[in-house]
Amino acid sequence: MATIELRDVEKIFGDNHAVKPMNLTIKDGEFICLLGPSGCGKTTTLRMISGLEAVTSGTILLDGRNVTWRHPSDRDIAFVFQLYALYPHMTVRDNISFPLRAEGMKREEIDIRIGEVVDILRIHHLLKYKPGKLSGGDQQRVALARALVRRPSAFLMDEPLGALDAELRETMRAEIKALHHAQNATTVYVTHDQIEAMALSDRIVVMSAAEVQQVGTPAEVYYEPANLFVARFIGSPGMNLIDGQLDGDLIRFPGNDSTMAVPAHFRVPLLAALDKGDDVVVGFRPEAAAISDDSTMAGEVYAVDMHGGYKLLHVNLGTATDPVIVHLRADRLASHPMGSSLRFTADPAMLRFFDPKTGRAISPSETAPVQTQPVEVTA
Ligand SMILES: Nc1ncnc2c1ncn2[C@@H]1O[C@H](COP(=O)(O)OP(=O)(O)O)[C@@H](O)[C@H]1O
Ligand SMILES: [Mg+2]
Repeated sequence: MATIELRDVEKIFGDNHAVKPMNLTIKDGEFICLLGPSGCGKTTTLRMISGLEAVTSGTILLDGRNVTWRHPSDRDIAFVFQLYALYPHMTVRDNISFPLRAEGMKREEIDIRIGEVVDILRIHHLLKYKPGKLSGGDQQRVALARALVRRPSAFLMDEPLGALDAELRETMRAEIKALHHAQNATTVYVTHDQIEAMALSDRIVVMSAAEVQQVGTPAEVYYEPANLFVARFIGSPGMNLIDGQLDGDLIRFPGNDSTMAVPAHFRVPLLAALDKGDDVVVGFRPEAAAISDDSTMAGEVYAVDMHGGYKLLHVNLGTATDPVIVHLRADRLASHPMGSSLRFTADPAMLRFFDPKTGRAISPSETAPVQTQPVEVTA
C-alpha cells in the first residue's frame, strides 16, 4: 500500500517553468486525477513521481520514505503509458509475465499471478496471440494486465485511454474503476478529459499553466470551484458566469433590468470582499437554474439544444455576458421558441460569487453553529 506526498515539487526546463511548487498528499488507496489542458504540467508531475524525470527542487515521499533521488525501479510503482508499448514479437502471455520473469519469479507463482489478472480483465482467450492481432482496447487491457501483475503499491497512468475511440473509452473507464475497486492500489491518473476525471476520481487535482488550481472531490470542483478557471473548465457546458455589480443586498446586471438578491450566507462575505458598485461574477450550474414567471431575472431565448432526456436553453441577458444556459428536464419540454422572453431563477444554495479582479471565488460564511451547551456561570 502507498501514500504519495509531494512537498514543494517543481520542475523547470531551461526557462520554462513546467510545474510550479506543488504540494499534494495522496492517501493510501486513493484514485487521484491530474486534470488540465495540454501543456499544464500533468505528465511532468507524473514522471517526477515515477522517477523518470528528476525534480528541480522539492521532495517526494512514498509511505513516508524520501524517494526523491531513488531510481524508478526502486519506487515500487507501475507506470502505464498512453501507448500500448507491448513487445510485438511476444505472445500476450509472455508480455504479461515479462516483468515477473525479469525478476526471476518461479513458474508456478507466475501462473497464479497471470490467472488473477486475466480473470479481472477477462482476457483468457487472448493469451496465445501476439499484440498485432488484437484490437486497440484489448491491447490496452494487456498493457494494464502487465502493470497489475506486479501488484505494485501504486499506479501511475498517463492518458491511458487517450488513443481509443469514445465508446471504447467509456467501457475501459468502467473497467479501470472496477479494477481499482478490486485492488485498491493508490492511483494517479492523468487526463485532459474532465468527464473522465469526474467519473473515476476520489479527488481531482485541477491544473492550469503549471499550477494547481484546486484539489477536491468531483462534487467540490463541480459545485464549489475555487476560481473562474475551474468554473469554466469543469462541466460541459461549464458554469454560467454573469458579470454583475454589487448594490447592497442586490446584484445588478449592466444593460439589463434583471436583479438578483444576494443570499443570506453571502451577504457578509461579499460586503467584506467588495465595495458598492464593484464588479462581481455570479456563477451557477445550468441545472441550478429553473424557469419561474415571477423571477427578477429575465432574458431572451437565443438558442435551444435538444438532448433527448433534457434540453439546454441559451438565454441572452442582453449584456456583454455569454448567454445563460438553463437545463430543463424532459418533463419541462414545453415550447420555448427562439426569441421569446423567459424569466428564470438560480437556486440560492447553488450560487457562487467570484471577484473578477483575482478570479477567485468568494467563500460563503459558515452557518452559525446552534448553541446547545448551557452557558457556564462562575460565581
Ligand atoms: N523534456 C522536456 N524538455 C523541455 N520542456 C518540456 C519537456 N517535457 C515537457 N516540457 C514542457 O513542460 C510543459 C508541461 O508539459 P507536460 O507536463 O507534458 O504537460 P501536459 O502533460 O499537461 O500536457 C510544457 O510547456 C512542455 O512543453
Ligand atoms: Mg501529457
